[in-house]
Amino acid sequence: MAFPANRSRRLRRTELIRSMVRETRLSPKNFIYPLFVCPGSGIKREISSMPGNYHFSVDLVVEECREVAALGIPAVILFGLPEAKDESGSGAYADDGIVQRAIRAIKAGVTNLLVITDVCLCEYTSHGHCGVIAPGTEEVDNDPSLDLLARSAVSHVRAGADIVAPSDMMDGRVAAIRKALDSRGFSQTPILAYAAKYASVFYGPFREAAESAPQFGDRRAYQMDPANVREAMREVALDIQEGADIVMVKPALPFLDVIARVRREFRLPVAAYQVSGEYSMIRAADRLGWLDGQRAMMESLTSIRRAGAEMILTYFAKDAARLL
Ligand code: PBG
Repeated sequence: MAFPANRSRRLRRTELIRSMVRETRLSPKNFIYPLFVCPGSGIKREISSMPGNYHFSVDLVVEECREVAALGIPAVILFGLPEAKDESGSGAYADDGIVQRAIRAIKAGVTNLLVITDVCLCEYTSHGHCGVIAPGTEEVDNDPSLDLLARSAVSHVRAGADIVAPSDMMDGRVAAIRKALDSRGFSQTPILAYAAKYASVFYGPFREAAESAPQFGDRRAYQMDPANVREAMREVALDIQEGADIVMVKPALPFLDVIARVRREFRLPVAAYQVSGEYSMIRAADRLGWLDGQRAMMESLTSIRRAGAEMILTYFAKDAARLL
């Protein structure tokens, strides 16, 4: 049999020709870098479950943000480790809370960097859930949680946050936050909604990083079942209806089909969160010599981008930006 005239390998022979026909390109502009802020000063403490990531005190997080901006990464997303936790997560919406202080310091000290804040209660509640618990039960009470989430978002924006990102998965939280922001003159602040957030085992390392493991039960009563994709379309549609400006799928690599469908069915910018477990698995396998961590990093980021996310929240942001 004759060889077909149409041969695919012609365009794969050298890096130059491969790079010319490449369909998906990564840029540092695609990345959002997560950072963990803790009390104290002069602190840069490595998170053991996420090598290469740290708890930073406010003074040092500013330095870190300068480095992030210098690499061409447009945004960071902040998570806080409060001094104390309580039943209603009051550290999340305190004007002098850890994240609020970090925002002010970063905004005062770094130019050319967007500060996004994760809006959730789980790092601030003594029970570790993302909302308040209905008295006498072990259930998260939806509507009272909305007020506290809205208060948190307003306090972040008041401190200078550029974008707020609710990650709690309560019903109606985007509408509640939008309304609270609008009524205080912050109608220009976008909401990046964790719209399709799954109850995933891949958040494991983050719960050490943010000290936010639930003290009883789990998050399956509010985060999504990993088996569902049509439900994800409903969640995204609802968040858009309520006023979301950017919609996120989380985790990323195990949910590439969900990213692709959100991209296809909606017309808003799409973000994806390559979560702590996705990061730590690659780092661990690299350490054991089981695969090339650098290539695994680039391949997974490219795949998330190819699926349709223009923004990727990733702990690899700095490492990948250095290679690009
Ligand atoms: C807070 C929140 C979590 C993550 C981001 N925001 C933890 C959770 O839902 O348990 C996970 C991020 C990661 O694993 O990297 N609700």
